[in-house]
Amino acid sequence: MKFFIDTANLDEIKEAYSLGILDGVTTNPSLMAKEGITGEENIINHYKAICNIVDGDVSAEVISTDFEGMIAEGEKLAALHSNIVVKVPMILEGIKAIKYFTEKGIRTNCTLVFSAGQALLAAKAGASYISPFLGRLDDISSNGLELINQIKTVYNNYAFDTEILAASVRHPMHIIHCAEIGADIMTGPLKAIKALANHPLTDIGLQKFLEDHAKGNK
Ligand code: G3P
Repeated sequence: MKFFIDTANLDEIKEAYSLGILDGVTTNPSLMAKEGITGEENIINHYKAICNIVDGDVSAEVISTDFEGMIAEGEKLAALHSNIVVKVPMILEGIKAIKYFTEKGIRTNCTLVFSAGQALLAAKAGASYISPFLGRLDDISSNGLELINQIKTVYNNYAFDTEILAASVRHPMHIIHCAEIGADIMTGPLKAIKALANHPLTDIGLQKFLEDHAKGNK
């Protein structure tokens, strides 16, 4: 299972990368705005900065909602670095754009996926990744993990190459359940990734080992 971090915060990206387990980064316009990154030039420079930190895929999202606009933006983003994956919203114009990018050899991440039907369309258009937002489904009393499972079944039935990038991950149990289902990638906050390491018995056991070592060396 690949681990991506879902942030535009450079310090968090550096920290996650320093752990040695980070495979990539996903961003979106809200995450960029949260870091105060506005204006085309600043956004482009920020993507470059992320690509300089992480040796792995970096999703960069288009803002346009029409085919021509998405193509123009996506081609510019893809030219920034070989690790850039163009993030395209799950709308019909987006599907057309994904098909175009696929034929041009530009990798895509179809975002804002909330149903198996949407995932099927994106796979048929040749999306490299699809991002089902599991946390946002949970937020409305729907079952995000059930969607990941359903998409996995559909993709397995037809051996689609599109990878399932479980997004809107909120906590460590989301990551564990996604791993059980067999999601190819998960993207989540640094806090959820680090929380996977926590166990009280590990802390108690380590403390005891260190105490015994200290006693034995007196
Ligand atoms: O990057 C897309 C997705 O991961 C957003 O997550 O927490 O805003 O629902 P969230």
